[in-house]
Amino acid sequence: MLATTDCCRSMAAAHATLMHPPPPPAAIAKHSATRSSSWKILGFLLAIAFLVSCFFSSQLGYFHGMAAQANAGDPLDQAGQQKRIRKVSGEHVAAQYGDRNSTSSSKAAHGYAAAFDVGRIAKRCDYSSGKWVYDPSWEPPYNESCADIFKGWNCIKNRKCHARSHLQWRWQPTECDLPKLDALAFLTRFRNKSIGFVGDSLNRNMYVSLVCTLKSVARGFKKLRQFGADRGVNFVHYNLTVAYHRTNLLAQYARWKAKTPGPLEDLGYDDGYRVDVDVPDNKWIQAPRVHDVLILNTGHWWAAPDKFDPVSSPMLFFEDGKPILPPKSPEEGLDLVLKHMLHFVDAKMQSTAGIKFLRTQSPRHFEGGDWKDGGQCHRMEPLFVGEVDRFFNGQGFNGEVRNINKHLIQAVKGTSFHLLDITPMSELRADAHPSISAGKLHEDCMHWCLPGVTDFWNDMFFALFLDLDNYSTA
Ligand SMILES: *[C@@H]1O[C@H](CO)[C@@H](O)[C@H](O)[C@H]1NC(C)=O
Ligand SMILES: *[C@@H]1O[C@H](CO)[C@@H](O)[C@H](O)[C@H]1NC(C)=O
Ligand SMILES: *[C@@H]1O[C@H](CO)[C@@H](O)[C@H](O)[C@H]1NC(C)=O
Ligand SMILES: *[C@@H]1O[C@H](CO)[C@@H](O)[C@H](O)[C@H]1NC(C)=O
Ligand SMILES: *[C@@H]1O[C@H](CO)[C@@H](O)[C@H](O)[C@H]1NC(C)=O
Repeated sequence: MLATTDCCRSMAAAHATLMHPPPPPAAIAKHSATRSSSWKILGFLLAIAFLVSCFFSSQLGYFHGMAAQANAGDPLDQAGQQKRIRKVSGEHVAAQYGDRNSTSSSKAAHGYAAAFDVGRIAKRCDYSSGKWVYDPSWEPPYNESCADIFKGWNCIKNRKCHARSHLQWRWQPTECDLPKLDALAFLTRFRNKSIGFVGDSLNRNMYVSLVCTLKSVARGFKKLRQFGADRGVNFVHYNLTVAYHRTNLLAQYARWKAKTPGPLEDLGYDDGYRVDVDVPDNKWIQAPRVHDVLILNTGHWWAAPDKFDPVSSPMLFFEDGKPILPPKSPEEGLDLVLKHMLHFVDAKMQSTAGIKFLRTQSPRHFEGGDWKDGGQCHRMEPLFVGEVDRFFNGQGFNGEVRNINKHLIQAVKGTSFHLLDITPMSELRADAHPSISAGKLHEDCMHWCLPGVTDFWNDMFFALFLDLDNYSTA
């Protein structure tokens, strides 16, 4: 109970500091003359609003004051665009984002049976569509003392406001219950097995959640880094290994510079990144051979113009060692990479009856600017249903999520991959990011506090896994 208000005060102070703008990025430079004079006032008002909200938030319901600053001239509000995107991302919009009306619900009402039974009962349930239910009795599967939590994600230790109360929401699918991952059942089920997370830092976020969950019940474990993994843990009494392979694009890529005359040089390219669409990144090339279960992701780096600038450092796609001509857009490149990488895994795991998941895109929740333009995420409660589309309608700072999902959903068709669709549940959790508590120059509205939302991703992973009758540990 140590002074929530102190924590809030220091966040508000840091927040006020942030309000003094960094050198305006080119995109907003032309507005800076009018903006800079109002920055200080705005910052001051926001700091006040933040303090007030922190102080009252335990008594009062929802806090959406921060939204007020976000949307002056916001392109997100153009109805025509919304309509278009809605159509494009139909599959996702169709997932019913439940409303947040129910404010309390007792755990007893959802008595979780043994995970195995629930798995059978819940067969064919769509865990991805549902709503967040406020449930003060909800206990996270581990606590902030888990040593694997990356410093910037440990919101409780970093005294993020509401780091504890943000854990009092439980994901309630529409058609069934999502069983809480039973760590002992998990360890037993995966005895002598190996599970590999392959992807960007958001998959690491999920990996850490699983490791902490298992460590909360398993006493014996040792670090294990092998086969290109960035990190890994072996739970010795069960001989279960859980590992994380870091890769941004799944495919291999490297800096490319014009040298001798060549087809790309002839087209005027002199600098960029060579992306080999048919060559898996070294970090995980052995993963299909050594793991029994793989959870792959890619996404954020395909929409990261700060690294892959379309003009000064574009992605240049190569296939079979030769440049693809005419050069393809990142979206087309993503399709090619997904096609090759999923096929690669399919082929390599054919004989091992491995289970493969492709995780959908994790949403970001920047308001008032993108990550390096002062974007923030100071909400105290999940979004209302009606707010979600405005964040993710294809425009604005966070617009990429559903577009990337279209590619991912298309890519798994005709493969043996299962889609782990964590997007709808995550889109609602604008309140669940480290924000300024990450202690960085910019707010972190992309990764998730731990314990937190990715715990539910793992619940969904295990529930889906149990639904796949064919897999046997024998
Ligand atoms: C929301 O809750 C109120 C009060 O509990 C209830 O009267 C209302 O019907 C609910 N609305 C929906 C859409 O469930
Ligand atoms: C695990 O592997 C060891 C050695 O390969 C074997 O002796 C043991 O029976 C296996 N346990 C299970 C549950 O498969
Ligand atoms: C542990 O599991 C791995 C497979 O993940 C297996 O190759 C190895 O033999 C097992 N070791 C023991 C001691 O059971
Ligand atoms: C956190 O969890 C560990 C077990 O994983 C336990 O030993 C410890 O007492 C817990 N700490 C708090 C503050 O609850
Ligand atoms: C289960 O096994 C049957 C027969 O081997 C196969 O046809 C089917 O595709 C499998 N189902 C899944 C979900 O893997």
